[in-house]
Amino acid sequence: MINLRGRDIISSLDFDRETLEHLFNEADKIREELRSRSILDYCHGKIMITVFLEPSTRTRLSFQFAMIKLGGIVVDFGLEQAASIAKGESFEDTIRMVDGYDPDIIVVRHKEPGSALRAAEIAVRPVINAGDGWNEHPTQALLDLYTIKRELGRIDNITIGIMGDLKYGRTPSSLSYALSKFENVKIIYIAPRELQIRREVLEKIDGLVEWKMVERVEEVIERLDVLYVTRLQKERFTDLSEYERLRGSYQISLNLLSKFKKIPIIMHPLPRVDELSTDVDSLPQAKYFTQAENGVYIRAALIKEVLGA
Ligand code: NCD
Repeated sequence: MINLRGRDIISSLDFDRETLEHLFNEADKIREELRSRSILDYCHGKIMITVFLEPSTRTRLSFQFAMIKLGGIVVDFGLEQAASIAKGESFEDTIRMVDGYDPDIIVVRHKEPGSALRAAEIAVRPVINAGDGWNEHPTQALLDLYTIKRELGRIDNITIGIMGDLKYGRTPSSLSYALSKFENVKIIYIAPRELQIRREVLEKIDGLVEWKMVERVEEVIERLDVLYVTRLQKERFTDLSEYERLRGSYQISLNLLSKFKKIPIIMHPLPRVDELSTDVDSLPQAKYFTQAENGVYIRAALIKEVLGA
């Protein structure tokens, strides 16, 4: 198992299987302890700063809730400060400044791939990547795997369809890397050809998971244990007419799902736009809100380990 104390968390390739399983167990324990107490004292006197320079709802909030529930203190970099970046301050200067205030942990999101690693090289304090452009989102992968484990009882021997914008999405890549730490996992990438999974992702998982690409979900749905849906990453399209052409090229609806004998559990990192209709929410297989809730416990487990608390 990897000792996470003081470490930067940049990629889901940074974890091994034992560490992932340890984090799932810790998350379960924290969940249990929070049933009888609303705030624990693992991180008493510790400070986390969240520096989100791209929009975020769940990731930022669940990191903040996680730290507060562990008894720690949260400082948010805030939109006003982000405005001084608009004045021309570089990302590097921002990180150097934030690190100088001496927080115990820095959570960072930025639109450029590789930005989290750059932040980690600058900062003395541990940096957690909360999304670096289209590259990676390792803590989302943690909560995705944690949800699969809780819902199916296993991560080994599963077939998962990862669908949507696999080219510009960072959750499909981080999820694929994390899944590659388990046994006999099959990933089916479901996307129009223009949005298929990036080559570099396949290179990193090749030989560790069995993968294939298809264009239509109907071809494979009954074979899946999990269908992981993602939205088109509109903000990353260089050509908005391409976005308009591709949006609506796939949509999971109750009508579509009801055509099949077997419906897998449905996951989504959220936010959803057109690709997942709200009429799916009533199905027992719809797990995306549970998935978001799980984010608090697994992020708490991660913070606790990184702080050695
Ligand atoms: C994802 C992200 O930011 O990459 N959202 C999240 O963290 N839950 C997915 C997305 O924005 O589509």
